[in-house]
Amino acid sequence: MRLERFASKEDLYARAVDIIVSTKNEGATTFGLATGGTMEPLYSKICETDIDFTNCISFNLDEYVGLSAKHEQSYAYYMYKHLFHNKPFKESYLPNGLAHNPAEEMASYESLLQQHPLDFQLLGIGQNGHIGFNEPGTSFDSLTHLVTLEESTRQANARFFDSIDDVPTQAFTMGIQSIMRAKCILLIAVGEAKRDVLERVLASEYTEDVPASVLTKHPNIIILTDLQKEENEQ
Ligand code: F6R
Repeated sequence: MRLERFASKEDLYARAVDIIVSTKNEGATTFGLATGGTMEPLYSKICETDIDFTNCISFNLDEYVGLSAKHEQSYAYYMYKHLFHNKPFKESYLPNGLAHNPAEEMASYESLLQQHPLDFQLLGIGQNGHIGFNEPGTSFDSLTHLVTLEESTRQANARFFDSIDDVPTQAFTMGIQSIMRAKCILLIAVGEAKRDVLERVLASEYTEDVPASVLTKHPNIIILTDLQKEENEQ
């Protein structure tokens, strides 16, 4: 596990772009992508580069159940707005939030992931330690599945909706095992709200109560943060 701390967000996102560009230059073709506030500056910086993903495939971590790809708060819409409009991939996959048969949707997404092993996975982190939408208590062996979102997650994401009532209650997410299969993982944790959870991960707690703690066992993970050590820390 490699941790890099940055004094400025500017430097942090520049480093994240460098990692993605060099991963691609080294031959990566399958990219796992994330959404959320953390990724917006990153995608905006990627759009300023000349990186070309047209020979690459992307898989998003998750999608809200009940939202169509045209809904402005769907992750499909987010990806188009922040990245794909400018940096298209050969193929881009997200779970289908309107799938009539959730069991089939989960199985087919997982099977696609297994057919196209991820060279790289980008991750943000929830204040409760979620990665993707794998909420605390999710099995480390989980594959793509349907989740009921925690109230705290709905509240954290309510800022993107008109009101909390509009935030979906369920989502499809890659499982923890699906994420851990990626050859390389880049986790970005920015802002004070992520301090407590990042400290728990860095303390190498390994518990399903903190889903991101599984990452301490990944052979090739880089964590970038703008959080500095507290004075009383070693
Ligand atoms: C998004 C995702 C989530 C977010 C996490 C942090 O696709 O999978 O795990 O990365 O909720 O969200 P922000 O960046 O908005 O704090």
